[in-house]
Amino acid sequence: MRDQRTSRRGFLTHGGKLGVAGLALASLTRVQDLFAESIRDPAWRSQEAVDFDELRQQFSLAGDLRYLNHASIGAIPVPVQQARTEYLRICETNPWLHMWGGQWDEPREEVRAGAAALLGCQAGEIAITHNTTEMFNTLAHGLPLGEGDEVLFSSLNHPGASLAFEHVAPVRGYSVRQFDYPLESVPGTTNAEVVQIYREQISDRTRLLVLPHVDNTVGLRHPLRELATMARDNGVEFVAVDAAQSIGMLPINVAEPGVDVVATSPHKWLGAPKGLGLAYVSVRVHETLRPMWVTWGQQRWKLSARRYEDYGTRNLAEVLALGDSIKFHNTIAPATRENRLRELFERTRTLCENTGGCRWASPNEWAMGSAVMAVNLDHGNSAGVSRQLFEEHQIVVRPFAVQGLNSLRISPNVYTDRADIEKLFDVISRS
Ligand SMILES: Cc1ncc(COP(=O)(O)O)c(C=O)c1O
Repeated sequence: MRDQRTSRRGFLTHGGKLGVAGLALASLTRVQDLFAESIRDPAWRSQEAVDFDELRQQFSLAGDLRYLNHASIGAIPVPVQQARTEYLRICETNPWLHMWGGQWDEPREEVRAGAAALLGCQAGEIAITHNTTEMFNTLAHGLPLGEGDEVLFSSLNHPGASLAFEHVAPVRGYSVRQFDYPLESVPGTTNAEVVQIYREQISDRTRLLVLPHVDNTVGLRHPLRELATMARDNGVEFVAVDAAQSIGMLPINVAEPGVDVVATSPHKWLGAPKGLGLAYVSVRVHETLRPMWVTWGQQRWKLSARRYEDYGTRNLAEVLALGDSIKFHNTIAPATRENRLRELFERTRTLCENTGGCRWASPNEWAMGSAVMAVNLDHGNSAGVSRQLFEEHQIVVRPFAVQGLNSLRISPNVYTDRADIEKLFDVISRS
């Protein structure tokens, strides 16, 4: 139980008087209370079901836009946008007080606790970073890797989880090896096959294995527990996971045995403000991994993932709004979200199978796939086709031309209208 004199609400009411700081904190608490009230009994959720049309109304997406690109960047729910605007307004009433006065420390720690609950770890294992790429830069600089050590990843790795290693390797003397993931195996793949593909690439020099949880090209769901266990059994010392695509889309249990670090970008599927990331850094590596940023006051966070975030001047309004995004996200039960995404996945795959001129390039089974889906085009150039889809039909998808793919990536979120996906295939069938 928190001490009433030091907790936020205790501080507000203690002695019945509010000083300048107390008044400032009272307005912050009021915004948070209003936000909590707005999602307590939301219009989009009844006891039995979620009304996805109603949920879609909670976003500012333009009415005629068919937005199928959450894997690039997501949308922030309106209640979160409003809370964020209010936080910023409060900050600006006394910039010094709100940045350095300490009143936002507890709300920020509540954000961390909410993130830890979402990801299944301790609050002290969560760093509030800026994005996925930042955490991989921290790893490239801060892990004890040197001469003779190898960092291994596949061609499914995003540059945000690869380039930092290539940049730092010549300075530190370690090597980086990327192998081509066999994309032709993806549609019919199994967990055992994915593990075997990585197993064959591990050498006795491999010290760090980097994996996407869900890759951004074909949306293959990597079996984290099996891969991490296999890597450890084969002498790999560190396993780092890129969960930029899965946070907010699929349940993630970051504390899988053998996984040291999980970096995420909640601005895609979780509806969080752009410019904020969440990273899990296991207590196992707090002593080993050196921070990339160093700043005053950091020593107090010695054995905590807080040492991997920047405690200099921060945009606290965004940090608090990240907490609200998590609360908004939690208004939908994980099983309801997964069932809906699975339904959209199956609808998309069926439409692809029934449409001429395109072929499914993602896993056939939902258990191996995700809401990141790739459809390969037999004709035309996917970059040109996606431009045309946007300009003529307001459909937003992302083209890919890697490893022989000429694909459109379709990434609907839970509130996407099925009709938007149907329209996409209708256009493909007529082109
Ligand atoms: C799988 C994956 N990893 C990393 C990133 C980089 O994310 P950020 O720019 O938020 O660091 C992306 C962005 O699309 C991604 O899809």
